Amino acid sequence: MSKVYSIAIDGPAGAGKSTMAKAVAKELGFVYVDTGAIYRTVGYHMDLMGIGPKDIDGINRLIDDVNLKLTYDEDGLQHMILNGADVTDEIRTPKMSKIASEVSKHKVVRDFLLDTQRNVAKEHSVIMDGRDIGTVVLPDADVKIFLTASVEVRAQRRYKELLEKGQKVQYADVLRDMEERDYQDTHRAIAPLKCASDAICLDTGDMDLEQSIEAMKKIIKDRIGVC
Ligand code: DC
Repeated sequence: MSKVYSIAIDGPAGAGKSTMAKAVAKELGFVYVDTGAIYRTVGYHMDLMGIGPKDIDGINRLIDDVNLKLTYDEDGLQHMILNGADVTDEIRTPKMSKIASEVSKHKVVRDFLLDTQRNVAKEHSVIMDGRDIGTVVLPDADVKIFLTASVEVRAQRRYKELLEKGQKVQYADVLRDMEERDYQDTHRAIAPLKCASDAICLDTGDMDLEQSIEAMKKIIKDRIGVC
């Protein structure tokens, strides 16, 4: 079997992780794994069942009913299948962003999802993005990148994205939600968002998408020679 590579991309919401990782994965022929979507899907299931993201007893009771599958369409787009239903679009709302951030604090949820994430990386070369990929999920990743930008830049990007999807949102609300999520994701007790000691930090605040992708490719090429 040829060598399987793993590239870990971590960073706060709206730093451009998924757009950039998806583009680079396509070029490399690697599988792109969006781990935020996995947490969103767990949160979606709990919400559907009337369980709030802070209701640890309810989550403990229902977590084993969550049957998750990741599938990929011909464009390499990851689809989330929850108990047989494709929920890829349903998990992409501001409400689900908040729920995912809350639900992901719980140890039972993080433990439940760990193997799902690691198993993909055992079988395929991956670019995996999230909050704890370089620190917890794939500590031996071949390349680790910590992507960041100021909260205002990230909120502006997310605001545009939501408007383009036809969602009715205000910039001030997007900014406030992002600040709250940054705080929650970096201050939780288990696997908080932080830069791994061996990660390369890439601030995309002053770069457009094309420049950011080129910068990411250069880091990967310098480390493992592909790209
Ligand atoms: O990447 P995203 O914005 O779709 O992630 C949604 C939430 O899921 C995020 O606010 C925190 C949580 N998450 C996590 O705790 N660990 C990951 N590896 C990925 C996401």
